[in-house]
Amino acid sequence: MVLEDICTSLVLWFFALIPCLLTDGVAILPAPSNLSVHSANMKHLLVWSPVALPGETVYYSVQYQGEYESLYRSHVWIPSSLCSLTERPQCDVSDDITATVPYNLRVRATLGSRTSAWSTLKQPFNRNSTVLTPPVVAISKDGFHLVIELEDLGPHFEFLVAYWRREPGAKEHLKVLRNEGVPVHLATMEPGAAYCVKAQTFVKAIQRHSAFSQPECVEVRGEALPLALALFAFVGFMLILAVVPLSVWKMGQLLQYSCCPAVVLPDTLMTFSTGDSLVRAGAEQREAGYELETESGRETWPAEAFS
Ligand SMILES: *[C@@H]1O[C@H](CO)[C@@H](O)[C@H](O)[C@H]1NC(C)=O
Ligand SMILES: *[C@@H]1O[C@H](CO)[C@@H](O)[C@H](O)[C@H]1NC(C)=O
Repeated sequence: MVLEDICTSLVLWFFALIPCLLTDGVAILPAPSNLSVHSANMKHLLVWSPVALPGETVYYSVQYQGEYESLYRSHVWIPSSLCSLTERPQCDVSDDITATVPYNLRVRATLGSRTSAWSTLKQPFNRNSTVLTPPVVAISKDGFHLVIELEDLGPHFEFLVAYWRREPGAKEHLKVLRNEGVPVHLATMEPGAAYCVKAQTFVKAIQRHSAFSQPECVEVRGEALPLALALFAFVGFMLILAVVPLSVWKMGQLLQYSCCPAVVLPDTLMTFSTGDSLVRAGAEQREAGYELETESGRETWPAEAFS
């Protein structure tokens, strides 16, 4: 009986040991593979093939090493600011890569207490290889002003904007703009002409620029605007002509009602309606005395009794 118990315990202990052996590196977690950097407009994304384990969630951590670290302190790897135990098989390393030098990048997988080996990018990444695309440009007109709005690509970007009057032998004008997130006045246009605009990005940090965007044109209609203005002014003038006499007449009416009311007042009010008649009424009363109503009947008192 006791022997049987010992045997059972031994068997249980053995099976309990298996997961321990596995977590201690016996069952190796595969490392992520196929590392590459997709970089466009100074946004750098490290991507890799995920470690596929059905029913399990694998987490990834990314580290980098700039030229200084790789040359002088090769054992030093810096954790990426955004990717420590993240789920997606990609990492935005734009904020980690702050210099135009080769960077080494590596990633490993973690599942529970198991971690994979590090997998390193084959070729170091230099941000000067980023793909610069022509900027998205929106142009519009505000009266005679040619207005441009540029895509916001972040603090690295400047824009070289070229604009010209659409006519044979036109001269191109150039302006360097930064995107401040607001439409910018580019030029004042002459009536009856079409103006075209194209732009390219320039990134000082890597000394490279994109291709130019497709030219976009706007046209300022020549005589239409002055004609519209004249028409507007004429209509305004006619309105004033009609409204001014009408309002003068209306004001006259209003004033008449408020200062000289033609309302018929009751007799009692009539007597005291003006100060003048009140004084007169007082004087008459002083001569006639006052008629008082008392309990014993009406009595007339001489005026002196009240003075
Ligand atoms: C790596 O990429 C290649 C093609 O790009 C693909 O055939 C292969 O399956 C990928 N490896 C993994 C482990 O996903
Ligand atoms: C990037 O810079 C390196 C030197 O640091 C240079 O050899 C390489 O040609 C540059 N690449 C591009 C696309 O400008």
